[in-house]
Amino acid sequence: MADTKIFQAQPGAHYRRILDPWVKNTLPVSDPEWQKIEGDSLREIRRKLRKRTFLSAIGLAAKTASHRTVDKVETAYDTIWRDFNWPRPDAPTPKRTYASWGKTGLTLRPGCLGLMHLDLLMDIVERLQPKRVIEIGSGPGSNLFALAASFPDISFTGVELSSSGFKTSKSVQELDVLPQEIAVFNTRKIADDTAHRRIDFRQANATELPFDDGHFDFVFSRQAIEQMELIRDKVLPEMARVASRHVVMFEPFADFNASEHKRLATRKKNHFSAAVADLPEYGLAPVAQFADWPQKIDQGIGMVAAETIG
Ligand SMILES: C[S@@+](CC[C@H](N)C(=O)[O-])C[C@H]1O[C@@H](n2cnc3c(N)ncnc32)[C@H](O)[C@@H]1O
Repeated sequence: MADTKIFQAQPGAHYRRILDPWVKNTLPVSDPEWQKIEGDSLREIRRKLRKRTFLSAIGLAAKTASHRTVDKVETAYDTIWRDFNWPRPDAPTPKRTYASWGKTGLTLRPGCLGLMHLDLLMDIVERLQPKRVIEIGSGPGSNLFALAASFPDISFTGVELSSSGFKTSKSVQELDVLPQEIAVFNTRKIADDTAHRRIDFRQANATELPFDDGHFDFVFSRQAIEQMELIRDKVLPEMARVASRHVVMFEPFADFNASEHKRLATRKKNHFSAAVADLPEYGLAPVAQFADWPQKIDQGIGMVAAETIG
């Protein structure tokens, strides 16, 4: 029987406190200004989908379709992580994220939604006390640097497809002490600012993880299988294979993207769209889920905890 308390989220006020330094503006979702933000976004998504349908009808689909193949994802993230700035609430950036939570529309600085996911991940790791942990699609390593600094006795591994994500993680590992600009992306105390040097980063495709069956007692991903819709039939069973029991995903399951706005955006981006109820097909039994925190207006991310079947 699964102990669902391990995966329990904090009360809303806790996430509100994490969010506060990142908030640029708030509006009631009923406010005409917020309605315009949502309306403009939905119209743009519809326009792009119509364009794709039209080009497909005249035989030019390949020109605009974002098929999100492994090659395309790798190329895209090679560029993204090469110019990556570590997120922090006081970063001078014109970029903004539109999100809503209940009846409040939020204009946020980029990065804070990930910090909330990281905070719940920390709670889960603290309660589960795993020995060996792997992140699938670890990007430049932000989650693992924070986890290793706060839980230095755990062995962490990260698997990343893009060479620039992998190289960025490796270059941070050359530094004796975790730099402040990375260390601030954490909601916990730093127990060891040299633990980042011991993380095992690998460049590999999540369809073929170079590890034995059941090697990790905790497997997680955050907005990584989001990018793997075309290969989810291989990736999810592969995550289940290397897990001895627990798998936690912070991903855009269909359950968190039921509104028209989010459903169409998922289709436009060719993002992961499995439902939580689909997980047993891939060898995973869902045991807990949570999504009551701010969600981007065009994408919902929820925490789904599962156990391996058999
Ligand atoms: C949105 S980023 C998230 C990065 C990180 N998990 C985080 O929370 O910051 C998605 C990451 O998944 C990686 N990825 C996509 N497809 C992959 C695959 N087939 N195998 C391994 N990594 C992959 C991308 O290269 C990218 O770094």
